[in-house]
Amino acid sequence: MPSITGLKSRIVFDSRGAKTIEIDVTTDKKFSGRACAPSGASVGKHEAQSFPRNSPEKALEVLKTNETRFIGLDAENQKEIFDALRSIDDTEMYSVIGGALSLASVDSASKALAMPMFMLLKPHKPYRFPFPLGNILGGGAHAGPGTPDIQEILACPIGARNISEALEMNFRVHKEVRSVIQAKDKDFTYGRGDEGGWAPNANNDQALEITDLAVKNCGFTIGSDMSLGIDFASSSFWEEKTRIYNYKRQGITRTREKQIDYVNQLIKNYKLIYVEDPVNEEDFEGTARITKDNTNCIVTGDDMLVTNTMRVKRAAQHNACSGAILKVNQAGSLYDAMNFAQECAANGIKLITSHRSGESIDSHLSHIGIATDSKMLKAGILGGERVAKLNELLRLTEYDLIDGMAELSSN
Ligand code: PGA
Ligand code: ZN
Repeated sequence: MPSITGLKSRIVFDSRGAKTIEIDVTTDKKFSGRACAPSGASVGKHEAQSFPRNSPEKALEVLKTNETRFIGLDAENQKEIFDALRSIDDTEMYSVIGGALSLASVDSASKALAMPMFMLLKPHKPYRFPFPLGNILGGGAHAGPGTPDIQEILACPIGARNISEALEMNFRVHKEVRSVIQAKDKDFTYGRGDEGGWAPNANNDQALEITDLAVKNCGFTIGSDMSLGIDFASSSFWEEKTRIYNYKRQGITRTREKQIDYVNQLIKNYKLIYVEDPVNEEDFEGTARITKDNTNCIVTGDDMLVTNTMRVKRAAQHNACSGAILKVNQAGSLYDAMNFAQECAANGIKLITSHRSGESIDSHLSHIGIATDSKMLKAGILGGERVAKLNELLRLTEYDLIDGMAELSSN
């Protein structure tokens, strides 16, 4: 058993230049694991907090005063780490201590046992690569004025035979999107959002047309080579008081019924394989309607489910969501996130492991995606912190035990 012999934590900066916490866990006095806490810009109302009272300094203080509680624990045993975290923090939202320590522990255990993290988290075959869900054009909380209200238009290279081909296809479409934008807007500055997707001066409908055209210009057939998806992150433009979806940048509003129609229409028009948070985070019934009417599309909850086992149970009762986003920092610890993955599997809900818009160069995400049998991996597109995860997938091709790409159609 790799026993924890030391802990070190410090404040560092994330990909947005915001302060965050980084933790080193040492096992058996020589194996060092590291994890850094990411953070979101469009945050679900019910998700765990990135830092206690939103202060990385406070998180650091709590960690330093409680270091001894972790010494001697089995770094591989997520439940032990979870119990120790919970002995310090029993708040629902992990508002006293964050969960990066749980990832740093497993990282260090994987080094001590000379075993890749994905095998440690899931000790048996089959292993498959999730399809990279590339953020190729975006707006919302990840980009500035003039960009679309919807947060992300995503590319999924469903026809790719291997991970290298899948990544190449996404990068090709991303590059072509830039050319299409440029042809329409001579003043385009090549601006990009937080995750590397282009951030053009375009409304939602124009953005979708641009992306669709770019895929076709690349010679890809939509629905067999490449499919598109959308993360609406619709809670960010839902107004509870007036009960409308306020597309402020486009200057239009939609009622709940109109929003559901719009989503259904987009799925049909663009043969979308994936939609995320198409209606606000509390509208389980609306999500259920979209799920029921679009069996070929993975209707996914992110802000709605917040990697929370109780929330996904509730979604399953409503038959809402055929897909679920898994973000470890939404759950609060790796143990919570793995339980969530099990609950999704038990209910036939497909998993999509996801980064946050504020990230580090950690590449644990790729291992978690494989270990949870995720169908897709949401890791943005460009920028060192995004490519770090994508390149890790390429490194993992060196393990013969991974049997190709995930099967998108099966559960
Ligand atoms: P966030 O965005 O990290 O800013 O929450 C990612 C997402 O909504 O999927
Ligand atoms: Zn989302």
